[in-house]
Amino acid sequence: MNNANSKTLHMITWGCQMNVYDSGRMADVLAPLGYAGTDRPDGADMVILNTCHIRDRAAEKVFSELGRLRLLQEQRAAEGGRMILAVAGCVAQAEGAEILARAPYVDIVLGPQTYHKLPEMVARASRAAGAVIETDFPVEQKFDFLPDSMAPQGVTAFLTVQEGCDKFCSFCVVPYTRGAEASRPLGAVMAEARRLVARGAREITLLGQNVNAWHGAGADGRPATLGGLIRALAEIPGLARIRYTTSHPRDMDAELIAAHGEVPALMPFLHLPVQSGSDRILAAMNRRHTAAEYLEIVARLRTARPDIALSSDFIVGHPGETERDFEATMQLIRDVGFAQAFSFKYSPRPGTPAAAATVQVPEAEKDRRLQALQALLREQQAAFNARLAGRTIPVLVTGPGRHGGQIGGRSPWLQPVHAQGPLSLVGEVVEMTITAGHPNSLSATLVEERACA
Ligand code: SAH
Ligand code: SF4
Ligand code: F3S
Repeated sequence: MNNANSKTLHMITWGCQMNVYDSGRMADVLAPLGYAGTDRPDGADMVILNTCHIRDRAAEKVFSELGRLRLLQEQRAAEGGRMILAVAGCVAQAEGAEILARAPYVDIVLGPQTYHKLPEMVARASRAAGAVIETDFPVEQKFDFLPDSMAPQGVTAFLTVQEGCDKFCSFCVVPYTRGAEASRPLGAVMAEARRLVARGAREITLLGQNVNAWHGAGADGRPATLGGLIRALAEIPGLARIRYTTSHPRDMDAELIAAHGEVPALMPFLHLPVQSGSDRILAAMNRRHTAAEYLEIVARLRTARPDIALSSDFIVGHPGETERDFEATMQLIRDVGFAQAFSFKYSPRPGTPAAAATVQVPEAEKDRRLQALQALLREQQAAFNARLAGRTIPVLVTGPGRHGGQIGGRSPWLQPVHAQGPLSLVGEVVEMTITAGHPNSLSATLVEERACA
């Protein structure tokens, strides 16, 4: 839809998958105002930075990007135009006032719970000088006010079902930036999933800061569980694959574990962050589970779904972490055997309990531990990928591959797969034989009948 009012919108997104989803929803809410996406910031009528506050460097990136955009904003003004500059996401929520102090040329600062108010904020920013700031946690749920997406949809899609966190891990800003846990009702999730499938999605990843704490109202109006939601979603014709992320071990209930064994569309891959393998550090982190309890959950998942693969997040150098604690984390990694993982050096975040701890681990020690941990995880990932060589597995074809004539797709365990094949297969789940497992991907060939077809 192009009209005389057409304007351009450039977005830069950092952080987690929920921010990726949110950027899409912000584009949806601005589309009726005539804003269409552009890849370039120069000359754009509006630029939104969707930010992440999880670690120190994440926030610093925002300020350096703002410095660069200021020049483009001035250039635009010199040409008689206007570039509205907005900062959204978790840095906006946590440091709204600081943003306006350090970068007074920013027009709009908006927290993650206020995206439905964006049109009104744009109108206010267009009319008047001075910044518009919205960082309250409004009483209404933004999802009730966001429009349905009309944007093109790929083969894989994200769908936020739960937001916020009540867990208050010692190190983490998320409970402060995303607010209290809230779940969307089952009916709303089902309706959005059906729309995504109608527009071409074959795989949906349910998102939430604590997605397995989802307790949205079910069909009878009473709180349901994620296992029940997954079973309902699996009935949608055309939806081939379901995933969910990120989960907390404490919310891994029996119904969800059973769903892994009984719902074929639920993929055999789970990101279940453990953070540490030391009970002392897990307690200091306020994770409220032990290493043994985590191992027991993994064992129950493997009983329900023997081919399930695990992924996790790890933090090294949390205040008070000794060499012995770190060794316990290495032992847990050896005991589980991860297919993939993310690992970070502890980064003190203002306002969190861990940042106030007096015993911080020296930076050089954090570096050494992170390197040792990542070497072990890389080894496990490479071994996991290599073990698939020679096996024939179902691959969801998502688009063109890296080289000409290639298609790219996803394995059930989330590895990227590349093979020679026609683009007509995009959106289909096809059998492929793995020819080689690389550190981060798989090479494959289409099984014969498809290759000849
Ligand atoms: N449950 C959340 C976790 C978000 S944060 C989710 O939806 O993904 C993602 C990961 O960042 C955490 O699991 C943790 O490993 C890491 N992290 C969080 N705060 C951190 C900090 N202060 N320093 C280093 N890593 C951190
Ligand atoms: Fe952060 Fe812990 Fe909540 Fe995850 S569970 S978002 S790590 S406070
Ligand atoms: Fe970052 Fe906020 Fe996500 S801090 S990880 S963007 S919830």
